[in-house]
Formats: sequence, C-alpha cells, structure tokens
Amino acid sequence: MSLFPDVQRKAQDEISRQVGPDTLPDFDDYDKLVYVQAVVLETMRWLPVAPLAIPHRVTRDDEYRGMLIPEGSTVIPNTWAILRNPEDYPEPERFNPDRFIKDGCLDTSVRSPLTLAFGYGRRTCPGRWLSSASLFMIIASTLHTMDIHPILGPNGEPFDPEKHAFPGIKLNFDKLPCAVTPRSTKAAELIRKYTNN
Ligand code: HEM
Repeated sequence: MSLFPDVQRKAQDEISRQVGPDTLPDFDDYDKLVYVQAVVLETMRWLPVAPLAIPHRVTRDDEYRGMLIPEGSTVIPNTWAILRNPEDYPEPERFNPDRFIKDGCLDTSVRSPLTLAFGYGRRTCPGRWLSSASLFMIIASTLHTMDIHPILGPNGEPFDPEKHAFPGIKLNFDKLPCAVTPRSTKAAELIRKYTNN
C-alpha cells in the first residue's frame, strides 16, 4: 500500500462509501467491497507467499504435453512465473487490482491467483479459505482506519520489497519499512473501541 497510494485511496473510498465511519467492516460487507476483494487477489498474485509452492514426488509415470515425467521425479511448480504470466496478467509487475474487475464485478474470466498461490492438486493448502477470508478482513479493517505511508530511502527513493526479498521456501524480507497512522480522530476511536485500548 505504501508503494501504490492510488490503490490505497481507491480501496479506502470504497470502504468509506459502503461501510461508513461508525463501524469496522464485517463479512456482511463482503459482496459490496469488490475492489477490496480484488486487492486480496492482487496481493496473492504480486508477491506470493510460496513462490515455488512445495516440491512433490511423482508416485507413478506421468505425461504432460507428450513429455514423460518418470515415477520418483521431483516436480517444483513455478508459481511465481505463472502468477506473472503476461498472457493472464498484462503488465504483471504492476500492482493493479482493477485487472480482476469488469463492469463493477469480479471478472471470473481472469485466472484467480487463489487457485495458484495455495499449491496444486490433492495437497492444496487446506487453510486457503481461512487465509483469504482473514486477508480480506485485515486489509478492509486496516485501510478503513489507517493510512500506510512509504518511508523513503537515503536517496529519496521509495522502498522496493522485491530488492529486499531473500530466498527460502517461502518469500522472506529482511525489512518492510512503512509508517502507519490513523486516518482521523474518528478512526482512532474505532481502533481503540475494537481493541479495548
Ligand atoms: C496466505 C496464507 C497461506 C498460503 C499462501 C499457504 C500456502 C500453502 C501452500 C503453497 C501449500 C503447499 C500445497 C502443495 O503441496 O501443493 C500449503 C500447504 C498447507 N497449508 Fe497452507 N498456506 C497459507 C495458510 C495456511 C493456514 C492459515 C493453514 C492452517 C489453518 C494452512 C495449512 C496448511 C497445511 C496443513 C498444508 C499441508 C497440506 C498437505 O500437505 O496435505 N495454510 N499451504
């Protein structure tokens, strides 16, 4: 959000319009918060938690597009490349939730990152529904009440998370600097009300 202030503002405008200032979003607001749903999808696409999913061993000979995958082979899915395939996601480097929206609704003809970012086949992540619902709620509640600002580097350039990623089975960062401030006095009251502070 600190890198894409226009996305942040658009999501905040939608939440303000649909939820109003007196309460936090809840799951009854889900269908109305189409742009926030698209932010969740784009978040899972742009920097997937498991860019190479989990390696699997093939238990019997298999064939893919005429190529033999012999029993015992280890298959490592390149989720990162699939989620940045320009044929499915034009300008893939751009964080652009609008790619998932058509005529004010989620565009089901665009491949959902939720079918990719949680692994594949029988061992697909069983936590995917919990995770995507939690992400929706965390993103909606945070953006409704707080502004996320960039912290500029020594040369005045914004922080680029990709430059701070380091390898591992999941995507790791050595730091993710940003500043988070309440959007208004009313928003600060809401935060206190819901966190008992
Ligand atoms: C954004 C959050 C999450 C992401 C991106 C994620 C991603 C993944 C991926 C890529 C796999 C490997 C699937 C495969 O083998 O192809 C996996 C497996 C698994 N995940 Fe998640 N996960 C998330 C959250 C969770 C949560 C919240 C839970 C539990 C409540 C969970 C439980 C599991 C379990 C138990 C497996 C192993 C499944 C098996 O091997 O049969 N995950 N997850």
